[in-house]
Amino acid sequence: MKPPVIAIDGPAAAGKGTLARRLAAALDLPYLDTGLLYRAVGRRVLDGGGDPADGAAAAAAAAALTPAELTRRDLRGPEVDRAASLVAAQPLVRARLLDFQRGFATERGAVLDGRDIGTVVFPAAAVKLFVTASLAARAERRWRERRAGGTAPTLSAVEAEMAARDALDAARAVSPLRPAPDAVLLDTTTLDPDAAFAQALAAVRARLDAP
Ligand code: DC
Repeated sequence: MKPPVIAIDGPAAAGKGTLARRLAAALDLPYLDTGLLYRAVGRRVLDGGGDPADGAAAAAAAAALTPAELTRRDLRGPEVDRAASLVAAQPLVRARLLDFQRGFATERGAVLDGRDIGTVVFPAAAVKLFVTASLAARAERRWRERRAGGTAPTLSAVEAEMAARDALDAARAVSPLRPAPDAVLLDTTTLDPDAAFAQALAAVRARLDAP
């Protein structure tokens, strides 16, 4: 039997990264955080002094990207958040990153998390989860992370930044953030990580076991 591809999509700080990592471990599948691809492209443009909104600069950065760049330690934080969102709106950037994402799952299957995994990258994925939470809950999670990491923006600033990024991800012309018609929806607003994982694993097992 072909190893499964499990697609996990949803907005920022919905909890999909933690879920995806835990599902991959439980099912013994490789895991790819596809947001890192867009972050690494954004980082590359910034490092070269370019403008992440410039389509040609972003496409050139995507073409030059190497897998080693996904492990850089400077891919988080507001500056890269913004740059990643801008490069992710460029059709040429998305096209360039498709082969890498598809190739990643070829041999052993995979759990991938992102925005368009179930809609564009793997429309035939065995299981699709769309993980959401209210804007307030997601902003609070991100704010706590930032505080724990030593930076202290206000909660309202984090919420405003997140709302702007959500709008950009959902409104772009190519691969906008939206659930695939056959995705299982999981709202984590009132769930702790263990409860979210239990529900996700049950949904995945039910789909994998379905005839
Ligand atoms: O999940 P994240 O916050 O690390 O994603 C960074 C940016 O990349 C975000 O603006 C959404 C975008 N992205 C995307 O467009 N498609 C994906 N499959 C993953 C991320």
